[in-house]
Amino acid sequence: MTDPINPTRRSILTAGAAALALGGLSATRTAAQATNAVSAPQGRRMLGALEVSAIGLGVQNHSRTFHTTIPNRAEMHKIVRTAVDQGVTFIDTAEVYGPHESERILGEATGTIRDQIQIATKFGFNVDLETGEWAPGLISDPSHIKRAVEGSLQRLRTDRIDLLYQHRVDPTVPIEDVAGAVRDLMDEGKVLHWGLSEMGPNTLRRAHAELPVAAVQNEYSMLWRGPENGLLALCAELGIGFVPFSPLGYGFLTGAIDMGTSFAPGDFRANTSRMDPEHREANLALVELVKAWATRKNAAPGQIALAWLMAQGPSIVPIPGTTQMPHLLENNAARDVSFSQAELAELNAQVAAIDVQGARMPPMVAEWSDVEAPAQG
Ligand SMILES: NC(=O)c1ccc[n+]([C@@H]2O[C@H](COP(=O)([O-])OP(=O)(O)OC[C@H]3O[C@@H](n4cnc5c(N)ncnc54)[C@H](OP(=O)(O)O)[C@@H]3O)[C@@H](O)[C@H]2O)c1
Repeated sequence: MTDPINPTRRSILTAGAAALALGGLSATRTAAQATNAVSAPQGRRMLGALEVSAIGLGVQNHSRTFHTTIPNRAEMHKIVRTAVDQGVTFIDTAEVYGPHESERILGEATGTIRDQIQIATKFGFNVDLETGEWAPGLISDPSHIKRAVEGSLQRLRTDRIDLLYQHRVDPTVPIEDVAGAVRDLMDEGKVLHWGLSEMGPNTLRRAHAELPVAAVQNEYSMLWRGPENGLLALCAELGIGFVPFSPLGYGFLTGAIDMGTSFAPGDFRANTSRMDPEHREANLALVELVKAWATRKNAAPGQIALAWLMAQGPSIVPIPGTTQMPHLLENNAARDVSFSQAELAELNAQVAAIDVQGARMPPMVAEWSDVEAPAQG
């Protein structure tokens, strides 16, 4: 069984295969970003019309970690409940995580606290609705979306999904048709808000014109600043929230990875060339940077990475993923780290000065990003 986003069991992905050059990302910030970038406030944030906690929790790894170990189920339940006790109410999963298992574990954890939380899940990968077997490809035809959502609702033990994303754009299905299916689900009360992930910008505009979009979920962190090249500005223009996935750079920005780290066979990170030793050495400059700021702000390096993200705009809600209680507590406390305007300007400039080397994804995964949906008819 395979997992397309974090394909630790995909034999077709080989280490070092990725060759996308990410250097030269523009350091230019839009006026909107600059205005919003004041501090990392505590409390709640809006994704379109959906109110969520300022930091969320990603539970992709609650069924299997990057290291391919299977976490203890009861401990994962405890992590979710502790997060909610601490005010972290925005929890992110997907049909394809596991597949199906992450949603199941989340559903087991949240039965009695369902009304206190906002659940985000996703459809769009070719997951067998019954068996959970994943086959290559994307699938967003309207009838499939509706059946996939029924499965998610069952596994999540709920009657509604607060935020439903299309996980990747299906290049064969007009986004207006996808919006139509989601609108039908909204009319039935099964979906409350919707979003897209890693879509092309024109597809986002068309989707939003058809059915207002609450949030975009894309990779964004100090390690991957691609959204600064127009996407954050587009979301601000349209009033769409932004949910950075892998906000800790898959753990890199916590300082947990150094030149001595080797990845387990099948660990997604082994297949991203930015983690190859030749590139990692240069990229560790970012780790040195967050460590220096951690000392200065009496915080942990990962907290600096999360607080920096939240400081980039008022509708940015990172969803760090963890399977460990101490990490959860540390990540949640990033809400208490804030920057003055001067500090933020200094940190932004320092981040922008580091030219991240290597690719963020293997080519087989990267080809699903920035896809534009076909026109209708
Ligand atoms: N839309 C998409 O295509 C997409 C793609 C990828 C991810 N996502 C979502 O984004 C969420 C988060 O992304 P992610 O898990 O890939 O990456 P991440 O949040 O950047 O990093 C997670 C990694 O960092 C480690 N970690 C977390 N907190 C730590 C801490 N305080 N100190 C040291 N290590 C720490 C975790 O290990 P431990 O478990 O040991 O803490 C894990 O290995 C996922 O759960 C998923 O919901 C979405």
